[in-house]
Amino acid sequence: MRHLLDTKTLAREDALRILDVAEDMADTQQREVKKLPTLRGKTVVNLFFEDSTRTRISFEAAAKRLSADVINFSAKGSSVSKGESLQDTAQTLQAMAADAVVIRHSASGAPRTLATSGWISAGVVNAGDGTHEHPTQALLDAFTIRKRRYGADSRGRDLTGMRVTIVGDILHSRVARSNVWLLHTLGAEVALVAPPTLVPQDVSAWPVRVGYDLDEAVGEGPDALMMLRIQLERMNASYFPNEREYSRRWGLDPERFAALPQSTMVMHPGPMNRGLEICAEAADSPRSTVLDQVTNGVSVRMAALYLLLAGERPAPGADDDAQKEDAR
Ligand code: NCD
Repeated sequence: MRHLLDTKTLAREDALRILDVAEDMADTQQREVKKLPTLRGKTVVNLFFEDSTRTRISFEAAAKRLSADVINFSAKGSSVSKGESLQDTAQTLQAMAADAVVIRHSASGAPRTLATSGWISAGVVNAGDGTHEHPTQALLDAFTIRKRRYGADSRGRDLTGMRVTIVGDILHSRVARSNVWLLHTLGAEVALVAPPTLVPQDVSAWPVRVGYDLDEAVGEGPDALMMLRIQLERMNASYFPNEREYSRRWGLDPERFAALPQSTMVMHPGPMNRGLEICAEAADSPRSTVLDQVTNGVSVRMAALYLLLAGERPAPGADDDAQKEDAR
C-alpha cells in the first residue's frame, strides 16, 4: 500500500489486512512496554490545516509507538491561497525527507493532490479532507464493530449481515462518506437517517437506504447506531429550525436510547455535542463504543502507518521472534 486516501477505492482485501494488522497492534498495546521498534529511523509528519484533537494525537501516538520520529506541523491560519500553500509546504517536507505525511485539510481532494502531484515521495494518509473522506475513522469504526461482535475471534472476518444506521449531519460528514463505502465493501447493510436538508443530493448513487424518521430506525434495532456531530462550522445556511427541534427529531435522547435493544452499540466519532445529537445516558453507557473507538484508533493508525512504511515485513505480534530480532 502506497497511500491511504479514501475507502471508496479501498479493496476488501486491503481493508481486511489493515483491520487484521490492527488486531496485532492492539495485542501489543496490552503489553507493559507498548513501544515497538518497527519504524525506527522513519519520519512521520502530521500536517494539519484544520483543527483536530483526537485524530492528531491518535496519529502521533501511533507513530511514536512504532518508534518513528514525529513532526507536528499545524498550518492553520496560513493566508496563502490553498493550492500554493500546499505545494510550498509539500516541498519543505520533501526537503526534510518525510517518509509519511498525515494530512488534514479543509479542501476535499487535498490529500490526493499531495499524493499525485510529484511534490513529495512520501506515503500520504488522509486524516480528513473537507466533506470528502476520513478513511482511518471508518477503519477504526469497522474495527470497533467487528471487535464488539466477534471479540478475540475477529481476525479475517468482514461485517456481512451487520446492520449499521448512521444518523445526523450526513451532508457535511466525511466520516459518513468513508463509513458508507467501507461498511458496504465489508458486507454490512447501511441505512442513513437525517433531516431532508442534511442528506446529500448524490445519495441515490450510494449503497444505502435513506430514511428521515429516527424513531422508526430505532424500532428496527440495528446492530450499530452511529450518531454524527452537527457540524455547525460547515453550515452556511439554516438546515434546521433550531437546536431544540433538531434534538427532538433526530437526537438520541433518553427515550429513544431506552427503546433500543440491549445489543445495539451506540457509536460517535467525537467530538460530541452532548444533549444535541446524543444524550449523556447513551454516550456514557456500557453500550457506547465512544472510548473504544478512541483506543482502537491508535491500533488502526499503527496498522496503516506500518503497512505504508514497512508493509513487506511481518506484522509485529504476528511473528514475535522476528520482532525480538528487530528490537536487538
Ligand atoms: C470527525 C472529523 O473531524 O471529521 N472527527 C474526528 O475525526 N474525530 C467528525 C467531526 O468533526 O464531527
